[in-house]
Parts: sequence; C-alpha cells; structure tokens
Amino acid sequence: MTAQLIDGTAIAQKVRDGVKEKTAKRLAEGKSQPGLATVLVGDRIDSATYVSMKQKACAELGMTSYHHPLPADVSQADLEKLIKELNADPKVNGILVQLPLPDHLDEERVLQLISIEKDVDGFSPINLGRLAQKGREPLFVPCTPYGCIYLLKEAGVKIAGANAVVLGRSNIVGMPAALLLIKENATVTVVHSKTKDIPGVLRDADIIIAAIGRAEMVRGDWIKPGAAVIDVGINGIPKLNPDGTQMISQKTGKPLQRLVGDVNFEEAKEVAGFITPVPGGVGPMTIAMLMANTFRAAEIQDNK
Ligand code: GUN
Repeated sequence: MTAQLIDGTAIAQKVRDGVKEKTAKRLAEGKSQPGLATVLVGDRIDSATYVSMKQKACAELGMTSYHHPLPADVSQADLEKLIKELNADPKVNGILVQLPLPDHLDEERVLQLISIEKDVDGFSPINLGRLAQKGREPLFVPCTPYGCIYLLKEAGVKIAGANAVVLGRSNIVGMPAALLLIKENATVTVVHSKTKDIPGVLRDADIIIAAIGRAEMVRGDWIKPGAAVIDVGINGIPKLNPDGTQMISQKTGKPLQRLVGDVNFEEAKEVAGFITPVPGGVGPMTIAMLMANTFRAAEIQDNK
C-alpha cells in the first residue's frame, strides 16, 4: 500500500470531542442546551438507522434531540405544519428532515420552509444559493460534502489550484461538494452518467470525490499517482467464500453482504497518495459535521 489512509473514524471523533467540550462550556455559562429536531417520514430501514445515529450523537455530546416520526402517507400539509412549529420552537436550534421523502411529498417545498438559521443540513435554497455565489457565505454547509473537505484539510491535501473531480451530481453530495471545492479555489469537473470518457477525466485529477453509488466503479488505473481519493459510496455487495460462491449466514440462512465504496480500494490504495476506507472514512464525518452545525445553530440563535 502506498496511499496514506485518511481515518474518518478518528477525525470524526476529534470533531465530536470538540463539540462536546464547547457544549459543556455553553451549559456552564448558563446558555441553553442545543436542540436538534429530526423528522423521519415512513419506515425505510436505512433512513431510520441514520436518524437514530444522529439522535445518539446528540445524547453523547450533551445536546437534546426531538424526534418526529411520521407515517409514510403523511400529507404535505401536515408535514409543512410540523416544520412551521419547529421553526417557531425556541428549544429547537436545528431541523433535519431525513431524505429521501416518499414520492407524494414535495421535497423542495419542505426544504425551503426550514428557517435558514435552523437549516443544519444546508439544503435550503438560500444556503445552497449562497454556497454557489462568489463573495457570499451560507450559514450551513451540507454535512457529507463538508466532511469530505474537512478530511482533505486534516490530511494536509492542498485544495487551492488542484484539479478536483467529483463523481456524481446529487443534491445531497455531488453538487454541494463541487461548489465547496470551487470556494476552496480548486478547478472542478463534475463527472456523471453522460460524461464521455470518465477514466480519462479522472486520470487528470489531483483530488477525487466519488459519490455516484456504484460499487467499486473507480479502478486503480483511473487514478493519477499521488491523488487524494475521498470515497463517499456505501454499497452492499455479496460476500463470497474463497471458492467464489456466495457466503450464507449460519444463523439466518440469508446471503451475507459486505460494504464497499465507489472506488476499488485494493487497487486504488496502491496508486493514490491519500485514500478514505469504506466503512470508516466519510461515513462518520456526516454525523460529526451535523453536530458541529447544530452547535453553531445554537450559537447563532443566542444572538436573536
Ligand atoms: N439522506 C442521506 N444523507 C442525508 C443527509 O445528510 N441529510 C438528510 N437530511 N438526509 C440524508
């Protein structure tokens, strides 16, 4: 292995420790406890798991979480009513609506209702618009891309002037990651399904942020020697026995899976200068940055 491993678990823990310490100091000064409202519509297992990790993080760091589970068939009007109540509630400093929402709901209308001072996900059109504009600063930056940039900086990777390639253009990761990299003075290319020569574009990249959701898509020979590779993907693929057959759980009799990123780690680690593992890379950073944003939200709202 030639690449330096970027340990997201350790870096996220450092961020969390910092937020915990600042929260304790805040409480000792007689200020309010930061509060995060989580809104979960329906019962998607992945969304429910993420939300419960966010609630647990709040408890660990001395913050309060207010959970609002809603049925999958909740009406747009009822969801909007809840957001308005949370906007008005002084105990709630941050509002997180877990995405994706069921198809019958208008996500854009929901996100634009969230007060920008409580928009700890950074998904409101005003915060995203500011991120896209020169000379303007959003109050909050989306947590996963924020975590990616934080990892690059912690690893000492120079972003200004670098050729950065973002693989994927989702609203949650790819697009805000590209905007953040531009703010950091990188030269940014966004690669997507219609890009003509993806390996060719990637081979020119000093920094790669892979967030396309395709297991092990990025091969070692697509990577420029010494490049920094940030892998946002979390994909389940079949776990195989040494003879290549599917591994089955002894307990449940079900096929076993293992988690891989969007980058072929075994190949990439021999070429890259820096690389994040999956799991243990970007994943833990999303929650750490959400906690940092929620703390900041409380501080911003102190002055109101
Ligand atoms: N779904 C996947 N990632 C995220 C995230 O960072 N925030 C929210 N609200 N939903 C998500």
